Amino acid sequence: MSRPNLFPALPPAPAVGGDVTLTRDDMKFIAALVYERAGIVIREHKEAMTRGRLARRVKALGMGSVAEYCAFLKTPQAAGELPELINAVTTNHTAFFRERHHFDHLRREVMPRLVQERAGRRGRIRIWSSACSSGEEAYSIAAACRDAIGPRSDLDFRILATDIDTDILARAEAGLYPAELFERLPADVKPLMRLEAAPGRGEARIAEELRRMIAFKHLNLIEKWPMKGPFDVIFCRNVFIYFDTQTKAAILDRFVTLLAPGGFLYLGHSESLPQPHPNLRLIGRTIYERTA
Ligand SMILES: C[S@@+](CC[C@H](N)C(=O)[O-])C[C@H]1O[C@@H](n2cnc3c(N)ncnc32)[C@H](O)[C@@H]1O
Repeated sequence: MSRPNLFPALPPAPAVGGDVTLTRDDMKFIAALVYERAGIVIREHKEAMTRGRLARRVKALGMGSVAEYCAFLKTPQAAGELPELINAVTTNHTAFFRERHHFDHLRREVMPRLVQERAGRRGRIRIWSSACSSGEEAYSIAAACRDAIGPRSDLDFRILATDIDTDILARAEAGLYPAELFERLPADVKPLMRLEAAPGRGEARIAEELRRMIAFKHLNLIEKWPMKGPFDVIFCRNVFIYFDTQTKAAILDRFVTLLAPGGFLYLGHSESLPQPHPNLRLIGRTIYERTA
């Protein structure tokens, strides 16, 4: 994969305290490493943010400077640190029922049809949340689908939820959130979350009934995927924005291969296909259907 020239005319990085100075060479080195390992493009204007995120690793490792951290990353001993670097640079912003129209489409249009088609013979339904962050997207899918499925047990229904960030996945799997996040949910979707009391004050836990619908797994979208599919629905929201066109196009081709004909792909609000795809038809706001 050829690397884009990300820093054509970057001025010297301003220092915030002597120890977190990020030189232009170190910034280039980090950007190239993150691009190679995760496909994430760190642009010039993200330099201050990158510096702050690296500073956390510098502190965690008891190092004296970002320069020392970058030098360490160049040694063979740093292999175990690379996932931590990726965890540090990912942006995990998410929310329950974010971009509500996708969940409405799933609950009111996609699921009733799939349930009707497949119920009665333990028919298989598979949904993939492909950059699930701290789990809000996957639990919203589970809540919407549980509502459409009802109490029936004649379906083999599973959600796969994956992310590159190992720290955020552990949080997702716990299903524990500040209770105030649920208080802000619209009244019609709040009961769908089926919350349980949590041990911590001010916390709520997603009910076991929803938690067991989901398998959380580590997966890097730019590496090999172990799944064979087919998926009826793939959520790939608010992660393409971090990738360049060639990375997006390659991932998109693989999504299409894993998507069942008639299946749906949901992208994030500011995302679109890198180029028109012969097997995908736009049928709603950032909703694509696999046509063949
Ligand atoms: C902004 S969050 C989006 C969360 C959720 N999909 C949503 O829309 O609310 C982006 C997520 O993409 C993940 N990510 C970034 N690069 C990735 C990669 N190469 N493979 C898998 N996940 C990646 C990040 O760890 C982060 O959790």
